[in-house]
Amino acid sequence: PKINPTAVVIFGATGDLTQRKIIPALYHLRLHNRLPEHFVIIGFARRPYGEKEFRMLLKQALEDFSHTHPIDQEVWHWLEKNIYYLQGDLANPEDYIKLARLLETLPEAKYYRANHLFYLATAPKYFPVVAENLAKAGLNPQAGELEQRRLIVEKPFGTDLNSARELNAILQKYFPEKSIYRIDHYLGKETVQNLLYFRFGNSIFEPLWDRKYIDHIQITVAETQTIGSRGEYYDAAGASRDMLQNHLMQLFSLIAMEPPASLEAESIRDEKVKVLKSVPIPSAEEWIHNSVRAQYGPGILGGKTVKAYREEDKVSRKSLTETYVCVKLEVDNWRWSGVPFYLRTGKALAKQFSEICIVFNRPPCVLFANSTKKVARNWLKIRIQPNEGIHLLFNTKVPNQPALEEAKMDFYYRKYGGHYFPEAYERLLLDALAGESTLFTRSDEVEYAWKIIDALRNAWNEEDCDAIPLYAPGSMGPVEADELLRRDGRYWGPPPKEEEDIGN
Ligand code: BG6
Repeated sequence: PKINPTAVVIFGATGDLTQRKIIPALYHLRLHNRLPEHFVIIGFARRPYGEKEFRMLLKQALEDFSHTHPIDQEVWHWLEKNIYYLQGDLANPEDYIKLARLLETLPEAKYYRANHLFYLATAPKYFPVVAENLAKAGLNPQAGELEQRRLIVEKPFGTDLNSARELNAILQKYFPEKSIYRIDHYLGKETVQNLLYFRFGNSIFEPLWDRKYIDHIQITVAETQTIGSRGEYYDAAGASRDMLQNHLMQLFSLIAMEPPASLEAESIRDEKVKVLKSVPIPSAEEWIHNSVRAQYGPGILGGKTVKAYREEDKVSRKSLTETYVCVKLEVDNWRWSGVPFYLRTGKALAKQFSEICIVFNRPPCVLFANSTKKVARNWLKIRIQPNEGIHLLFNTKVPNQPALEEAKMDFYYRKYGGHYFPEAYERLLLDALAGESTLFTRSDEVEYAWKIIDALRNAWNEEDCDAIPLYAPGSMGPVEADELLRRDGRYWGPPPKEEEDIGN
């Protein structure tokens, strides 16, 4: 994509996200010649730093968090000379006037003019005040301007439907929807983008992609890490808000959507929204029946002792916050009516992997009626991460026996070893710089997803309990989640085996 000279302003410039994700992403974009020649980064934060200290902080961040080493000194020097720092208070309108002045007076200003990209890498409570103060300083898009002033907003986007609506309303008061880029970093992953290319770039899968041929769909995002130092945020969020409302809902809508009219942002987002709208909101009773929430208890994970979630730092000892969630969703439309989608995600699990399994109907078994085993269903497994790939499970004849056996066809992304594989934040920053919003979530998308999650959480909140089920760290979650599928005559696809991880 064509990128005009731009000034990127990072609010929360000394924070974790800037160090871990934004700066490494900008560095790699430059390394791969994706940034325009005239490019400026302004850090805005409260710490009393000078330019020199800020640059040193970012250099250290690169040393710590870059996914390539050693750091290319030439690229760093290019970046460094374009980095500025403005000490400011997010709540003080005066400091935004200073920012406007700085933006106007930097030597590069004659190139980037009003092409400003404002990155809200702050705590979410500051999102509204930053947008408002930018507008007060005249830094929001002005009528008739050709240049773009854009806003990148990090997750979490609200904590429920009402707060998301309020936030949308405030941001949209100052920035038009097309200038707002809401991040869900899952959309930046190559394998997630491939869901569309794979589905609509082949003629052999899409004709089978419906209720006639598919028995059910599973979406798993399993993580081995525990909550660690994130207790304060996490205890108020839980897996349903931290992961299900955003990342899993994105995977879900990409898998279930209709073919879009084009690859344009609005066409794709329209189709994703239609999926969310087609999910019938279950009653509280149905939700309880069709969901499982659980917490990790104490145990051993990867040879290390893990304390129970309730014992984690900054977590309430009586917490009912779920570190694991599993739901069964329906999509009430022509394509999917009657096909369940099972979504699950959790922390402190046995294996780190994200996978979508399309499980096809069993063939009519008349020919194999005498076989002791039922004919296995065909599974199409799309591995989002790690060891990205696609696997198709099918049945073949066992040599010299009148029997069937499961075989597998494998595709691994590592075949693209020599290619530049942009990390999610690189892709997203590049797209925001280019004004391309397909990989960002639209306001209505966020709101429809919250509608589903709110109903789930309300159902849980109505339950009178002082504890939720526990699962052992290093397991694949609570037995209740296995039971949820078993009662439908189904089972979770097993975590990938070691030999699959090695691939070929
Ligand atoms: C974040 C969540 O959005 O996504 C984290 O807040 C989670 O809890 C992370 O660990 C997972 O992202 P990834 O890219 O590592 O799968």
